[in-house]
Amino acid sequence: MIFCGGKGGVGKTTVAAALALLATQRGRRVRIVSTDPAHSLGDLLETRLDHRPRRVAAGFEAMEIDPEQAVQTYLDEVAGRLRDYVKPALYGEIDRQMAQARHAPGAMEAALLEQVARMISEPPDEVDLLIFDTAPTGHTLRLLSLPEAMAAWTDGLLGQQRHSEAVGRAFRGLLPGQADTAGDERRAKLARTLEGRRQCFLKARERLVDASHSGFVLVLVPERLPVTETARTLDSLVDFKVPIAGLVINQVLPDQAEGQFLAGRRQVQETHLADIERRFARWPRLHLPLQREDVRIGKGLEHLAALLESNPG
Ligand SMILES: Nc1ncnc2c1ncn2[C@@H]1O[C@H](COP(=O)(O)OP(=O)(O)OP(=O)(O)O)[C@@H](O)[C@H]1O
Ligand SMILES: [Mg+2]
Repeated sequence: MIFCGGKGGVGKTTVAAALALLATQRGRRVRIVSTDPAHSLGDLLETRLDHRPRRVAAGFEAMEIDPEQAVQTYLDEVAGRLRDYVKPALYGEIDRQMAQARHAPGAMEAALLEQVARMISEPPDEVDLLIFDTAPTGHTLRLLSLPEAMAAWTDGLLGQQRHSEAVGRAFRGLLPGQADTAGDERRAKLARTLEGRRQCFLKARERLVDASHSGFVLVLVPERLPVTETARTLDSLVDFKVPIAGLVINQVLPDQAEGQFLAGRRQVQETHLADIERRFARWPRLHLPLQREDVRIGKGLEHLAALLESNPG
């Protein structure tokens, strides 16, 4: 699995697609997954994408997780589970609560994390390489700290449940013939759901920090803010023990870009490129030149893939 991270607009989607193309050319079956509601991956690949993987070329699939759709699926699931616990008279209340939760801060993030965690913990057999063109780096980092938070939460709930079961049993002992088997079954189901979810997040993290499974590719451009942000992100990734595959320094002005303005700009880039060399010396680095035109499949993406291959950095 490859995760493409970096500041907004630096070329994450472009690099993710170029990497996918390159891997496909090497005979690997690749799936690229985007969680960007702006459909930029679909635009780049000149196809309409949705949550079902679509074949873009031989051995190359792409899909887009729609955050709104993910929230809906997530809330439907939660509502379904809640219905097991309340009287039918309260179903309307559940629906009202769920409608509000749709717009609650963090709902989208939670829903996306859940889907991404599922995909990471159980990668599809039919592909060799998953490339995530995901939302900002912070999300992935939160995914890593989640298992602990979830463990505390799950343990708390399960502890309460065990406690109430013990109390229930004690009462039933006093009143023979009052066995609550339906209640026991519901509680066991809840325990399985919570435990399953926790295992999913734990497994996702295990895979994420395992260099034989995953690597993080940081994309940046030779400008001041992307460089400082990359430094911060690298620090966090190192803290979380996430394997870093390397850096792609994108939109480097080529030598043949002429004119006084571009010469000045190139000079600015050169200072940042030197800074990048100094600060990030311990990671593999590739350079990608700024292209004359916007990059798309069939129009420049293949060229960028070839440049990644020939490693001009
Ligand atoms: N090397 C390049 N040469 C020319 N144009 C490029 C290059 N890399 C990216 N671009 C262009 O820059 C724009 C932003 O690229 P891209 O969408 O890949 O960035 P992103 O980091 O995914 O953005 P976002 O943060 O919005 O998801 C696009 O129009 C893309 O075609
Ligand atoms: Mg993008």
